[in-house]
Amino acid sequence: MTGSDTQHQTGAGTQLVERIIVALDYPDASGAEKLLQQLKGIPCYMKVGMELFYAAGPQFVLRLKEEGYKVFLDVKMHDIPNTVKGGSASVTRLGVDMFNVHAAGGLAMMQAAREGVEAALAGSPGARRPILIGVTQLTSTSRAVLNDEIGLAGSVEDAVLRYAGLAREAGLDGVVASPLEVPGIKARCGPSFVTVTPGIRPAGAELGDQSRVMTPREAFAQGTDYIVIGRPVTAAPDPREALEQIVASLY
Ligand code: C5P
Repeated sequence: MTGSDTQHQTGAGTQLVERIIVALDYPDASGAEKLLQQLKGIPCYMKVGMELFYAAGPQFVLRLKEEGYKVFLDVKMHDIPNTVKGGSASVTRLGVDMFNVHAAGGLAMMQAAREGVEAALAGSPGARRPILIGVTQLTSTSRAVLNDEIGLAGSVEDAVLRYAGLAREAGLDGVVASPLEVPGIKARCGPSFVTVTPGIRPAGAELGDQSRVMTPREAFAQGTDYIVIGRPVTAAPDPREALEQIVASLY
């Protein structure tokens, strides 16, 4: 999918609730299943990350698709190009709506991800084209870690912008980044380059291990296309009420 195609999905015709991605960070299917019951009828996006996917597998993705959810498979692939191509083909055949690979894997690896998607689509007419997202510098990386441990010079923001540019060059549809970096990414990669932003906290919510955060409303005002929210919903005493309050705060 090109940037302008994805724009169609994230544009004015889409309700903001469809651009809220709830992170199903659970150790098994039963916790996630309970949340599904609590959120029933709310057309948010669902994110399956490595914790749930490694425990509950493709079966749980299919379960979410059966319920009509859009699914972001957040498994952050990073391997040799041939392996990432195969992984990308597999998750495309599974029917995920969005998935990601590490931009740090480089141009050839990201292009291989794109090729994997194309190969799966060619082999399964009717399969949906997922939005392919690059992971930039993880929001948990400090400048000291970037410079002294990973060995990359410059600021975290520089690294994010460089990775975003590389992801764009490889033909990816967008990137995961902090909402603070969205204006810079859009300026560099164009307005239709999709941004998916974790590090979201409603006003007054616990920060947990996130440090540079924005409220849902601020993040959308920055131009982010999708926000990712986990614990402010999943750990709330009443997750449905928490999500409804977040949606209400957007208008
Ligand atoms: O609970 P919380 O709202 O902090 O969850 C954020 C979600 O976004 C988690 O599933 C986490 O893995 C994911 N994520 C992140 N930072 C990144 C990439 C992904 O917090 N840079």
